[in-house]
Amino acid sequence: MKKNNYLKIITPIIKRAGENARKKWLRFNRSQSVMKSQTQIVTAVDRDTEKELIKQIKKYFPSHGFLGEEYGYSDKKSDFIWIIDPIDGTTNFSIHNPLWSISIGLAYKGEIIFGIIYVPVLEELFWANIKQGAYLNGLKIKPHHKSEKSKQIHTFCHGSKKKDLKLALEYYRQQKLNALDCRQLGSAAIELAYVATGRVDSIIIPGANIWDVAAGALIAQEAGIMVTDFKGNMWNLKSHDIAAARSDIMADILKKIQKLKS
Ligand code: IPD
Ligand code: CA
Repeated sequence: MKKNNYLKIITPIIKRAGENARKKWLRFNRSQSVMKSQTQIVTAVDRDTEKELIKQIKKYFPSHGFLGEEYGYSDKKSDFIWIIDPIDGTTNFSIHNPLWSISIGLAYKGEIIFGIIYVPVLEELFWANIKQGAYLNGLKIKPHHKSEKSKQIHTFCHGSKKKDLKLALEYYRQQKLNALDCRQLGSAAIELAYVATGRVDSIIIPGANIWDVAAGALIAQEAGIMVTDFKGNMWNLKSHDIAAARSDIMADILKKIQKLKS
């Protein structure tokens, strides 16, 4: 299977799943959400979308394994694992905010080799094959220029553990006071894709879930963005945290995080 075939096969699958989810989003009412934990909700759309994506992808790759946010692992032994977040940004979804996405990454022997993110309401499809650059709706994402410090906009997410939330809040406070802005857009996948395209300058996530970031990390890397853990090591699927930014500002971001941790 050539690398480029992943794109050809997954594009119609992710777009169809996105369109089905979008139709449900139009009529969605918050009372239909179910609490997953104190800070997390889930909807029938998350579950149905994951089931459908796995069913469709399996038709083409029957020997591959899957890891989805809602149903966990199936066939962990395969060298190929599809890492799926059926709806990244479920809270946004539930409040009729259009910033939610479907995120699919493919890992081969523990390394992400293909990533694709679809934002159905905005009809934006981001993708990357390893070592082949990153694309948005068919156009190659070009490396972008430095932004003036006073114009920088940072983003953040956080895992559900209290210590991760606290670090994210302290970081938010620091950046909010010093940069143009710091925001939580509510979908880690979209935030990584936005760093890749230069719409925002950085993202940090203490306690990142791999289904939220697998595809976005590759897309950002392939767009020329540095993607690391909080010690500055290259990010991988085992990293607890993730930071993504252009190389000219990454050192500053990691320094801020280290200071907050000490
Ligand atoms: C969440 C989003 C959010 C991030 C959370 C994630 P979900 O994913 O990516 O931006 O702050 O850590 O859990 O639950 O909407 O798929
Ligand atoms: Ca999700």
